[in-house]
Amino acid sequence: MAEASFHFPHGFIWGTATSSHQVEGNNTNNNWYAWEQQGHIVQNQKAGLACDWWGGRWREDFDRAADAKQNAHRLSLEWSRIQPARERWDEDALDHYREMVRNLRDRNMTPVVTLQHFTEPLWITEMGSWENSDVVAHFAAYVARAVEALREYVDTWVTINEPNVLTFSGYVIGDFPPGKNSLGTAMRVITNIVRAHAAAYAEIHKLQPAANVGVSHYFRHLQPAHAWSPLDRMVTRWQSAIFNELVPNALHTGVLNFLGRKKRIPEARGTQDYFGIDYYTSDRVAFSLLRPGELFGHRSPPEGAELSDTGFIANVPEGLFQAIRWSMQFKLPIIITENGIEDAEDSLRPQYLAEHIQQMWRAVNFNWPVRGYFYWTLVDNFEWERGWTQRFGLWELDPDSQARRRRPSVDFYAQICRENRLSSEMVAKYAPAILEKMFPG
Ligand code: BGC
Repeated sequence: MAEASFHFPHGFIWGTATSSHQVEGNNTNNNWYAWEQQGHIVQNQKAGLACDWWGGRWREDFDRAADAKQNAHRLSLEWSRIQPARERWDEDALDHYREMVRNLRDRNMTPVVTLQHFTEPLWITEMGSWENSDVVAHFAAYVARAVEALREYVDTWVTINEPNVLTFSGYVIGDFPPGKNSLGTAMRVITNIVRAHAAAYAEIHKLQPAANVGVSHYFRHLQPAHAWSPLDRMVTRWQSAIFNELVPNALHTGVLNFLGRKKRIPEARGTQDYFGIDYYTSDRVAFSLLRPGELFGHRSPPEGAELSDTGFIANVPEGLFQAIRWSMQFKLPIIITENGIEDAEDSLRPQYLAEHIQQMWRAVNFNWPVRGYFYWTLVDNFEWERGWTQRFGLWELDPDSQARRRRPSVDFYAQICRENRLSSEMVAKYAPAILEKMFPG
C-alpha cells in the first residue's frame, strides 16, 4: 500500500444537507402531511416529530455538525410555515429561520438555503399545485419575502430541489403527491417549475445582486445494459435526455427540449450561478416493450455493485465523476449538493464516502471547479414515501425517544473535513477493505 493523500483546495466547503419536512416535525399544513394521512407511506408511517428541529433540536444538531468540523450546512425553508395561507405571512416563522442561519454563522458554518424541497403549502395544492401556472408568481413572491428576511446571513440559494425528481415522482411514477401518471401533465409541471426557478432567480438577484443561485440537479448515471445493443443504447439516451438533461439544458439555453418537441422559456436562459449536483447511484437500462411509462427502459442496478440496506442505492462512485464531467459543459462552479447512502449499521457508508470523495478529488485534480460537498444527511430523517425504513444519517436517530447515536462515519467524515483531505491512513482506519484498491502500490 502507498501512503498518500487526496488534497482539496483551500476553502473547500464540507457539509451535510437536510430538508424542512424531513427534519422539522409537526409540519401539518403541506401536501406531504396530507399524503401521509392518506396512507401512502410504507407501513403507513408518518413524519411525525421527525428530528424535532421545529421544537428546537436544530441547536444540538448544529453543535454536532460544528464539532464534527463541517464548515457549511444546507437546509430548507418550509413554505407552508412562512406563508400558511395565500394572504398570510408568518413573521415568527421567518424569525425562526433567521435564528437558525445566524446560529450557523456563529458556529462558522456557511448556510446554503433551499427554498423548495418537495413540499408546498396546502393552499398551493388546492389551486392545482405545479400544474397551475399561477404558482410561478406565488413562488416568486414567497422567495422574495424569504430572501429579504435572510439575506443578511445567506448568499447561496437553491431555488428548487431536484426539479426532475419532483416531476417524475409526483406526475409520472406517482409515488410522491399528487400521485399522477401522465407524461403530458409532467411536461406542464416541468415548464412551470422552470419558469418558477427563473422568476425566483430574478427576485433573488434584485434583492441581493451578488447572490449565488442555482437548483440542485438529481443526476442518475445511466448506462446501457448491453453495450452491443442499439435498442439499449437508444433507450438509455432517451432516459438521460429527459431525466438528466432536460432541466439543466433549459436553464442554460432557455429552451425546454422534450425529445425534439421544443418550448421556449427565454427568461430561464443563464439562470444558474453554480451547478448543484445530487448524485447517489447508477442504473443499467435495458429496452423493454413492457415499460411504455418509463420510455421503454427497464432499469436495474449495475451487476456486482454493492447495494444499500433496502437495495435503493448501488455503490457506483465512478458515476459521481461522470456527473461532474457532464456538468462541465455549463461552465459554472460546481457544488455536490447531495451524496449519501442508507446504511443503518454503517457497514458500507465509510467505503461509499471514501470512494465518492476520491472520485470528486479526480475532478479537483484536473482543476475542475468543484467547490464543495454536502453529505446527505446529518441525522436519520423521514425519507418520503420510504418513511423511516432508510437511514441516511451520520448520526442514528430513534424517532420515538429522539436519542441520537454517533455512527463511526461521523468521525471519518470529521477527519476529512478537518484536514481538508482524504488520506490512506484514514481509509486504513475506517474502510480497510478498500485500502489496497484506493492506494495501490
Ligand atoms: C432528496 C432527499 C432524499 C434523498 C435520499 C434526494 O433525492 O433530495 O430529500 O432524502 O434523496 O432519498
